[in-house]
Amino acid sequence: MRQFDFGNIASSYDSFYESEKGRIYDRLEKSAVARMMPSSKDNPKMLEVGSGTGHWSKFFSAHGFHVTGVDISPEMVDIAKSKNIPNTEFHVEDIFKLPYEKNSFDIVCAMASIEFTHAPQLALNTMAQFVKRGGYILLGCLNRNGLLNAKRILEKKETYVNAQLPDIVSFRKMLSQFGKPEIQACAFVPMSASWLNFVTEPIAKMLNANWGEFIVGRVKL
Ligand SMILES: C[S@@+](CC[C@H](N)C(=O)[O-])C[C@H]1O[C@@H](n2cnc3c(N)ncnc32)[C@H](O)[C@@H]1O
Repeated sequence: MRQFDFGNIASSYDSFYESEKGRIYDRLEKSAVARMMPSSKDNPKMLEVGSGTGHWSKFFSAHGFHVTGVDISPEMVDIAKSKNIPNTEFHVEDIFKLPYEKNSFDIVCAMASIEFTHAPQLALNTMAQFVKRGGYILLGCLNRNGLLNAKRILEKKETYVNAQLPDIVSFRKMLSQFGKPEIQACAFVPMSASWLNFVTEPIAKMLNANWGEFIVGRVKL
């Protein structure tokens, strides 16, 4: 199965996060991820797989982590490096062939990346090998039942044709291989009135709705 090459869109990748709608999704996703972040001890080590342009790496670094970001796309890695984010390093690596010592990171995370590989569960199993005992896997995936993602899939957008976006059930199943996960769907943004997110987000969360655009979870190993 041919996977999408993010190198082709690396230079424009961050423009989504900078758009009006993108900023809303980003804020809601970050607030959900912040609630899942384990409290950090001294200079904890994070391995971020599929770190792309370093968008999330900046957030994790600001939370006190030393971030080793890896991505298969040299173009994405170059952009991440060019941002000179403190306490980060970026390398071109394939998730499935990581050169690091096993059990050596306090937290291993992937944000919107394993669903773009040919084998998301295998990617997660690989990630788990690098987590220290008592450390965490932190996972964020685009939800196939999110309104925007469902539209992207339906329209056969090139990026999504061969992607394997989970729903909340398959997301839970993937993480449950390692223990009892904590999971939260977020970014409940109406398609045509995104400003209404200040109402939809708390109500949807209260109702435990599952159509949020992003699913975040963590599991302790
Ligand atoms: C949708 S982007 C997400 C980037 C970043 N995590 C973010 O949320 O902004 C998916 C990323 O996963 C990377 N990726 C896909 N397959 C990979 C693999 N086998 N090993 C490492 N990175 C991979 C892509 O190159 C791309 O940068």
